[in-house]
Amino acid sequence: MSAEFVRIRLEPLSVEVDVPSGALLVSSLADHGIEFPCGGTGLCGGCGVRVLAGSLPITEADRAAFPAKELAAGWRLACQARTHTPLVLECGQWHMDVLTDNAGLTGSGKRGLGIAIDLGTTTIAAQIVDMASGSVLGVETELNPQAHFGSDVMNRVRAALHGDDLTTIVRAALGQTVARLARGREAEIVEVILVGNTVMHHLFSGRSVAPLAAAPFESPYLGTQDFRPEDLGWSLPASCTVRFAHCLGGFVGSDILAGIVATGMVHSDALIALIDLGTNGEIAIGNRHGVVCASTAAGPAFEAGSIRMGMRAATGAISSVSLLAGQLHATVIGDAEPRGLCGSGLVDAVACGLATGAILPSGRVADGSKQFPVAGSVVLYQSDIRELQLAKGAIASGFKLLLKHLGAESPDLQAIHLAGAFGNYVQIESAIRIGLIDAPRSLVHAAGNTALRGAKMLLLAATEPTLPPIEHISLAADPAFQDEFANCMTFPTELNP
Ligand code: FES
Repeated sequence: MSAEFVRIRLEPLSVEVDVPSGALLVSSLADHGIEFPCGGTGLCGGCGVRVLAGSLPITEADRAAFPAKELAAGWRLACQARTHTPLVLECGQWHMDVLTDNAGLTGSGKRGLGIAIDLGTTTIAAQIVDMASGSVLGVETELNPQAHFGSDVMNRVRAALHGDDLTTIVRAALGQTVARLARGREAEIVEVILVGNTVMHHLFSGRSVAPLAAAPFESPYLGTQDFRPEDLGWSLPASCTVRFAHCLGGFVGSDILAGIVATGMVHSDALIALIDLGTNGEIAIGNRHGVVCASTAAGPAFEAGSIRMGMRAATGAISSVSLLAGQLHATVIGDAEPRGLCGSGLVDAVACGLATGAILPSGRVADGSKQFPVAGSVVLYQSDIRELQLAKGAIASGFKLLLKHLGAESPDLQAIHLAGAFGNYVQIESAIRIGLIDAPRSLVHAAGNTALRGAKMLLLAATEPTLPPIEHISLAADPAFQDEFANCMTFPTELNP
């Protein structure tokens, strides 16, 4: 290596980066998946890294961002750091709770053990199951090691088209996950099933993602993909089948198929809805006679990705905001000084602003200051509120158009299940208050990891389940979409009962 560069290893993803000696780390690390929510000004505290090997001097911005205990433990702001010597850094942003599933399931007539895997863009959750009893015997969670190619699916598509081998990376990581789950009982594993979005499905399967890179985003490779363990380099019996369940459309993957199964939609006479709130919002509505589904580009606002003081749900993030005697009251993760807002805190903050009149239904900050103070130094900017309006407008309009397609309205639904991590943590009252969901409160439930639960149900099914017709609707092709989207951008003035 040239003398002007030093090597930095980023954990937990084991990424190695050569950075110019003495230069600010911000430009080098931004290319490797570390987010700098305030653009590297040192104000938001969202780019914390912990020095595991080597040393970084403490800057003034570090002193403002971290309490003494965290400074002593090695926490620094990556955007303010420079180094002349090699380092190993733990990235605070890459630590997150991964949602698994504890729902009790009925066993099948099958013998042996099975493994269900929810391969998410950000996280991986896997469980080993006794096929006869349905009992979960072990669980593994981790971050998707592809994350250093970018946090959303389009970054992964671009990396794969650029020639990066994202297939080998994810197969190797999942091979280790499977090995940990199976340790000491490898011979008993008879089946592995994976579910995930369309890009994860294609990348795991070694299929070209080129059809997913441009409109109309239709791919000829949406079907179930079967593998032998040796094809993947996994240490499992040769007789074990490994199956990636089929996708439903261009951007509606088998994670939603699994969610449809998990919510009981396929056996219900009444209409049931599933909404998975992420960068790509996916929506499915239906019953045993038929299901319609769609994806809608919500952008990163629900993960606070496009918010100036947005951050992941880590120490210092405002995770919820409520009104106490007309004043905002923020709950901060880790009982720390507030450093930013995660997705659930963002939705709460706007809901509170609407309730007090500080934010108008148009989204404008009422006093014209273009800033809405939340707690401590954490502020919501006018542009942040706009980002949330775009995200919630995309989901709400998609939901309305699917209902219209079915000739139904939200009170006709028996239940609306919110899936995924954000769906699990967002306050449902706040989601309704901002118009993300236009439905009576009694219908809406946090459903947890429906993808993993549905994957286990597919694994345990004695026979291939008979599914109703599932129709993928392209919202962008619907002439009513733009008008509906524009309507749904504003915040409601009245609440559902
Ligand atoms: S990006 Fe480093 S403090 Fe905001």
